[in-house]
Amino acid sequence: MVRRFATPRAWTAQAVPPQPFRLGNRIPNEFYPTPPEATRALLSVEAFDGPIWEPACGKGAIAKVLTDHGHTVVSTDLYGYGFGESGVDFLRQREPRAKHIVTNPPYGNGLADRFLHHALTLAMRTGGKVAMLLNLASLCHPIRTAEWQSAPPARLYAIDDIVCWPEGGEYGPPPPYFTKHRYVWAVWTPEHAGPAAFWWLSGADYR
Ligand SMILES: C[S@@+](CC[C@H](N)C(=O)[O-])C[C@H]1O[C@@H](n2cnc3c(N)ncnc32)[C@H](O)[C@@H]1O
Repeated sequence: MVRRFATPRAWTAQAVPPQPFRLGNRIPNEFYPTPPEATRALLSVEAFDGPIWEPACGKGAIAKVLTDHGHTVVSTDLYGYGFGESGVDFLRQREPRAKHIVTNPPYGNGLADRFLHHALTLAMRTGGKVAMLLNLASLCHPIRTAEWQSAPPARLYAIDDIVCWPEGGEYGPPPPYFTKHRYVWAVWTPEHAGPAAFWWLSGADYR
């Protein structure tokens, strides 16, 4: 199966200091942490039989849940949040750091597409799974249809009622439009071919 998932766009990595959130702004560095219930929900339906790389770990929201469930986790991020190894641009990594990859990637400027393409390329070498928390709307967009068809995930899990937003008041509460975002866990396995299976998960069941 040919795995192509690329829409590279011009992008430069720069740490951006926190700034007051305004409508339409993106949070600096695309830092939208994953609530723990989202990862617990994933682990209720997916098993990982070896070490896991969280290559955009942020403050460790996903990595901590994986570790709590007994997994060995390698945590890296391009930026520093006091968790894991910082200064690691996932898109420039040529060697896999663990068998499986699980992350909620940065979305803006085509980064989610680039992360996915790169994760699938690395996982082909390890025989591991790739699980990405993506915007549900990304499943249905003209720029991606061919890519979804050529490299379909094994499973898709729509997950309701989660909000990926930094706690602590730095940016205030999530704006109302943001709470309407819907997410999906997409899981690629090395042996999969053909249509993806689709299932539903509820964030409230894992809070
Ligand atoms: C949506 S946040 C998710 C953080 C974490 N995965 C979680 O679920 O809480 C995206 C993360 O990607 C990181 N990031 C952005 N560009 C990156 C890159 N090129 N390589 C590695 N990490 C990157 C950001 O610093 C941020 O922590």
